[in-house]
Amino acid sequence: MAITDEPLRRVLVTGGAGYIGSHVIYCLQETRRYKVISVDNNHNSHPKSLQRVAQLARDALPQDASEKDKDSAEIEAVTCDLTKKDEIRGVFEKYGKGGIWGVIHIAAYKAVGESTEVPLTYYENNVSATVYLLQVMSEYDCPRLVYSSSATVYGTPPTIPIPESTRLQADSPYGKTKVMSETIIQDLCAAEPQRWRALSLRYFNPAGAHPSGLIGEDPRGRPGNLLPLLAHMAVGRVKDDKLSVFGNDYPTPDGTCVRDYLHVMDLAKGHLLALDALSPSSNVFDNCPTEARFKAYNLGKGKGMSVLQIVEAMRKATGFDYKYVIIGRRRGDVPDLTADPTLAEKELGFKATHDLETMCRDLWNWQTKNPDGYDTPETSKVNSA
Ligand SMILES: NC(=O)c1ccc[n+]([C@@H]2O[C@H](COP(=O)([O-])OP(=O)(O)OC[C@H]3O[C@@H](n4cnc5c(N)ncnc54)[C@H](O)[C@@H]3O)[C@@H](O)[C@H]2O)c1
Repeated sequence: MAITDEPLRRVLVTGGAGYIGSHVIYCLQETRRYKVISVDNNHNSHPKSLQRVAQLARDALPQDASEKDKDSAEIEAVTCDLTKKDEIRGVFEKYGKGGIWGVIHIAAYKAVGESTEVPLTYYENNVSATVYLLQVMSEYDCPRLVYSSSATVYGTPPTIPIPESTRLQADSPYGKTKVMSETIIQDLCAAEPQRWRALSLRYFNPAGAHPSGLIGEDPRGRPGNLLPLLAHMAVGRVKDDKLSVFGNDYPTPDGTCVRDYLHVMDLAKGHLLALDALSPSSNVFDNCPTEARFKAYNLGKGKGMSVLQIVEAMRKATGFDYKYVIIGRRRGDVPDLTADPTLAEKELGFKATHDLETMCRDLWNWQTKNPDGYDTPETSKVNSA
């Protein structure tokens, strides 16, 4: 049974059907303290992900689950485009002023390369939509926000591991949309310090999937990120006979780029900690430099992994004999992006505990059970963990 007699807190998750969103919703539902409303336009996701998350939540209910517990396992899934303010308003209107307690704003476009080709599309979808969302949140008295930011806000960082105090200097239009959105949120918190509370989470490299293999990353088209690409190669969806490794002459131990990979379940848990830290009883804003109750946290493991280490870990997980070829450096690649996660650990209680082997195992479990992602025909019922 749920731990308190308080009614469920309604939380709106934007981009809820996506890779990270679906895992975040899983973590919220696991607590049986929240009622989740997911808002997504399925630009890069499949509605099936939410059905699977709800299935996991239902399966996890205890025998003596109350009506409230059962309610917490169901998701209100709304199709809504955040670049259309009226559509956002329609969602909030349903619950009235104060009806939604807080928002986790995850929806965005996220392809760095694409953002250099169609910057206006990125600024509209990632920045304008954030402004509209904040305006409607204000209208409906919902001044609590957790925001999905990214390590890309640091550009080429001067120090590794990267602390949150590092100056923000994103290189790509995508990265700049994250810096701009953070700035806008911070300005709003400064304008109404007694009202707004917001936490920005700067993700490093999420990977893996829920251990059930029911939900996971299902990129449209060819994966842009290394781990899903390796999974697609092993499952035969990407037919390249060799992986192209961009440069082995970086100042890193084996010369290939280093990134800070964290399990998506750890990342998702970080959102729960952040959401709980928006409660009046939390003290995370006590040491803010100004009156504004805004803070940013790195969510990473604090441990860098090179491209070649990742290839080796995926070889072990999949048994696939990856061949690779070293080609020249890719424009815009930074040698090392490793987080200093100390602040999130100290103030939120965040810790990315899963190791690389578990990440690769869970990714491979998801990929083998769903070789074509959510489009895989359901010939037999997949069992949850
Ligand atoms: N995956 C990563 O490696 C990574 C790293 C750092 C930061 N992030 C950030 O995390 C967030 C989620 O990333 P993800 O990997 O889950 O991506 P994703 O594409 O799987 O999820 C984003 C979701 O937002 C939805 N969406 C996009 N625009 C929308 C709009 N206008 N209206 C409604 N829904 C919209 C998409 O349909 C999708 O379901 C993004 O903000 C991204 O920038 C991701």
